[in-house]
Amino acid sequence: MSQSIVISVSGKGGVGKTTFTALLLRELIELGDYGVLAIDADPAMNLPAVLGRSVNETVGDLIERLEKEVDPDEITVSFEQRIWETITENRDFDLLAMGFTEREGCYCTVNRVLARIVDSVTMLYDLVLMDMEAGLEHISRRTDRDVDIFFIVTDPSKMGLHTTSRIIDLTKTLHVNFKNMYLVGNRFPKKSEKILYDFAEENSIQCVASLPSDQNISKFNLLGKSILELPENSPILIPTKNIIRNYVEPLL
Ligand SMILES: Nc1ncnc2c1ncn2[C@@H]1O[C@H](COP(=O)(O)OP(=O)(O)OP(=O)(O)O)[C@@H](O)[C@H]1O
Ligand SMILES: [Mg+2]
Repeated sequence: MSQSIVISVSGKGGVGKTTFTALLLRELIELGDYGVLAIDADPAMNLPAVLGRSVNETVGDLIERLEKEVDPDEITVSFEQRIWETITENRDFDLLAMGFTEREGCYCTVNRVLARIVDSVTMLYDLVLMDMEAGLEHISRRTDRDVDIFFIVTDPSKMGLHTTSRIIDLTKTLHVNFKNMYLVGNRFPKKSEKILYDFAEENSIQCVASLPSDQNISKFNLLGKSILELPENSPILIPTKNIIRNYVEPLL
């Protein structure tokens, strides 16, 4: 093994990106065979809470600290080594939070920093799992370069589907070539699933799952419990396991 598999999860705000990222992580940990780095690339930083883990320092914090400590010209030199200071090591996976958004005139645009992190960890993990910021910005900034699986999550709403088509169009316009791009429906009632699969066909994207609304997810969210501890019989785990088995494991 020399290269990580990089997975990124995108979509409109509130459609279930963080939940889906956490579910993928839960299943990968369950398999137990893989070294995983989870990256919260959303400045709103919900992933650590959903996973029930904390992050001491974000990449944004590190950059601010370095700007105070070091001559700005030297930051680029030391940055790669220092990035490891922000990675929280858990027993079963590592976690890194970007924790900042684009800053005017900063040498360290989100794009460059995230791309460099992904580049520099390539050798060290089997898999890098990124929970992206809602919307389209990160695609135009090309933070998703070298992505092996680009999941777009949509809920059963016109806006969710609309954002999905805009993301697909943007990847074409910008010639961003994700090796695999898949659609994941979340909380579609059985009756409306045809709309999801028809949409996928019309937009030439493979829909790999329709995740059900799952009471355990709502309950765990309300109680602040980690999705990693979701009971094995939770309905949402069935399609999640299928995705891992059919679309993720074959690349590992
Ligand atoms: N399948 C599901 N069943 C029950 N609740 C769900 C499901 N998917 C998501 N939710 C709930 O919907 C809310 C939004 O989900 P989540 O935070 O994963 O969305 P998001 O796309 O990451 O949002 P944001 O754009 O704000 O980052 C959360 O309260 C989550 O618990
Ligand atoms: Mg989120």
